[in-house]
Amino acid sequence: MRFKSISIFILCIGLYACQSEEQSLSISIVPQVEEITNQDGHFELTKSTSLFVNNESINTIAELIQNKFKTVSGDDISIVNEKPKTNYISFELNKDLKLKEEAYQLKVEATSVNISASSKSGLFYGLQTLLQLLPPQIENPKYVHGVKWQIPCVTINDAPRFPWRGMHLDVCRHFVPVENIKKHLDMMAMFKMNTFHWHLTEDQAWRIEIKKYPLLTEIGSKRIEGDGSEYGGFYTQQEVKEIVAYAAERFITVVPEIELPGHALAALTAYPEYSCTGGPFIVRNTWGVEPDVYCAGREETFAFLADIIDEVVELFPSPYFHIGGDECPKERWEECKHCQARIKNEGLKDTHELQSYFIKRIEKVLLAHDKKMIGWDEILEGGLAKSAAVMSWRGEKGGIDAAAQGHDIVMTPGNWCYLDHYQGDSRVEPVAIGGYTTLEETYSYEPVPEQLQADMAHHVLGTQGNVWSEYMYTPELVEYRVYPRIIALAEVNWSQKSKKDYADFVQRLNAQFIRMDAHNINYHIPLAEGPVNKMVYENNIKVNFSNTRDLKMVYTTDGTKPSLESSEYKNTLLFAEDKTIKIACVLPTGKMGPYRTIELVQQDKINALDVTTTQIGLQEQFTKGRFIGVEEIVGIKDWETRHDSMSVVKGKKRDGHENPSASIYTGYIEIPEDGIYEFETNLDQFFIAEQLLIDNDKEVKRFSRNNSTINLSKGKHPVKLIYLNNNIGGFPQAWNGPKVSFRLWGAEKFTTATPQSYSY
Ligand code: ACM
Ligand code: ZN
Repeated sequence: MRFKSISIFILCIGLYACQSEEQSLSISIVPQVEEITNQDGHFELTKSTSLFVNNESINTIAELIQNKFKTVSGDDISIVNEKPKTNYISFELNKDLKLKEEAYQLKVEATSVNISASSKSGLFYGLQTLLQLLPPQIENPKYVHGVKWQIPCVTINDAPRFPWRGMHLDVCRHFVPVENIKKHLDMMAMFKMNTFHWHLTEDQAWRIEIKKYPLLTEIGSKRIEGDGSEYGGFYTQQEVKEIVAYAAERFITVVPEIELPGHALAALTAYPEYSCTGGPFIVRNTWGVEPDVYCAGREETFAFLADIIDEVVELFPSPYFHIGGDECPKERWEECKHCQARIKNEGLKDTHELQSYFIKRIEKVLLAHDKKMIGWDEILEGGLAKSAAVMSWRGEKGGIDAAAQGHDIVMTPGNWCYLDHYQGDSRVEPVAIGGYTTLEETYSYEPVPEQLQADMAHHVLGTQGNVWSEYMYTPELVEYRVYPRIIALAEVNWSQKSKKDYADFVQRLNAQFIRMDAHNINYHIPLAEGPVNKMVYENNIKVNFSNTRDLKMVYTTDGTKPSLESSEYKNTLLFAEDKTIKIACVLPTGKMGPYRTIELVQQDKINALDVTTTQIGLQEQFTKGRFIGVEEIVGIKDWETRHDSMSVVKGKKRDGHENPSASIYTGYIEIPEDGIYEFETNLDQFFIAEQLLIDNDKEVKRFSRNNSTINLSKGKHPVKLIYLNNNIGGFPQAWNGPKVSFRLWGAEKFTTATPQSYSY
């Protein structure tokens, strides 16, 4: 017998037809298992292999591999109730083994494979490990030619570290169709995750059918976007049942979230009588938090929510029910006579205690249904309901405090667990909400905070990735943000702390990329970072690239798309003539990520203008109206000319998007010294020295994503700035302090132009 370390090299991965002994022996299990012993030899799954089950109730688990094998090989293998002498995969449910829930043992020998567990979930996870020991093409959705379905001989004992291994998904800001949710559930199962937290209601949409209140979806599931288009979608109860059943087959519990008392505008648009003011409202079409919330003073509000809960609990067998509880502004409650009367009559101190009162009333409704309540950490404020579990998102403190009070907690602090964050340079990645959380940072998360007393650590149920979809405009963008970071959290949740090893995880991830390819998952592959899209130079230029995972990069300079045969980027590139660089990262599997295009353009220094100006700031031409793109202002004649000394300065916001308008600013900018400058702006367009340097037309201008460079001499240069006060993709331009910033190329910090930088 030979003992090997589990981090065996991945040989030949990506070469689908490669059938060397080494390939069949390569082991890349994610999440890492608790104990593994490798032996020589392998078992081969063929059409004469049988699937033995010792209990009919586990047929469905055996059918999962039966179906996969049929798909990739075309062969039917049979499920039998008598153990064959040889060439079988056995699934044995054995309570006498006394393994923990979800734990399993797997033994692969040359003539048989044995999976045993004391729970069905354990057998299911044993099967997931077995599937990961097979060549990754076992996940293919169609016939695969020429693969030998070999499984290396191993003995594995495995069990999860935490019972709550979750992924949250906000389907309100952007709708995720049933088929796409099933893809996520498939991935969750593959990586032994067991909790899908489904965020179903929001200010921006109500997405679950409630038969007693049909307007919740008739009105609440749709919104008119800032550009005038309608956006909508919801799940019928039938579809909800379908998802819950699909998840259950994969041992995933679906926890519904019905947000209260805040984040409720879509419901209140449909039923304004449960608000403080009585409305009317419109479903919110910008991100952020709505001040109108459920009225805590009106009795009818509680009856309405109890009716909704009555229907929702019927659909979800989950022991937990998530009631939101986060970000509930108190301003309406402060003004509302019903809410104030409630505070007085119940002897509450303030509106924070009123929120606690609200949650405790809902807790009673849930307890009557035998459901455990879970909410975001704001439910601690004003006193935590007795039976509540807490999901800690604003850092770890909420979780620590709740656990110290004896409550169960799920740790989802933003810095590690918010998968809406950027995972690369915000100047080149698709627009995101902000933050910056690399795969490695997510992987580094430790769900049991150091500050937690050891005897309270058992209150940590686990962690989950939170997927807020404001800036995930399509299901593909959801996948881009979720994968592979969620897999890092899967390992954080499942594997023992002592088994964590990022470098080894990254190696094991390579096989998972091939599996995800088979499921057509649009996982993130880093972009080549460094230069912006247009790089000017005077005589020659050095160009440096890097990426967030130190992947190989390939590039061309002849305008063609890069391929695996293109030159590999190794060190600084030096050019003395105009070129177009196209560059992409390549995974060890051989898959290339999206390529970037960088134009290198020779430019002589642009002379400053010898002009005399008399006013600090810029001249503004202003007109009212909703303009989505710059071309829409071309024919406008009705401009008001005014002096502007402030509004293009950081931090000074304009009227809200409810008062849409367009502004064109003109004047000169003072450039402090000769040099090649990188400019950035969140305006729609920025012209300097008669060139359109930055064009953000029709983009979501949350961050500057089209930085560019120009070769300027010291002194005054003419500028034109176009600012459309509109709402694109839920982000109102009015939330930006409009600004233009610049730095000498390569300098660390940007300088933001101030009124004194401009004159006319
Ligand atoms: C949250 O991110 N508002 C829970
Ligand atoms: Zn009220």
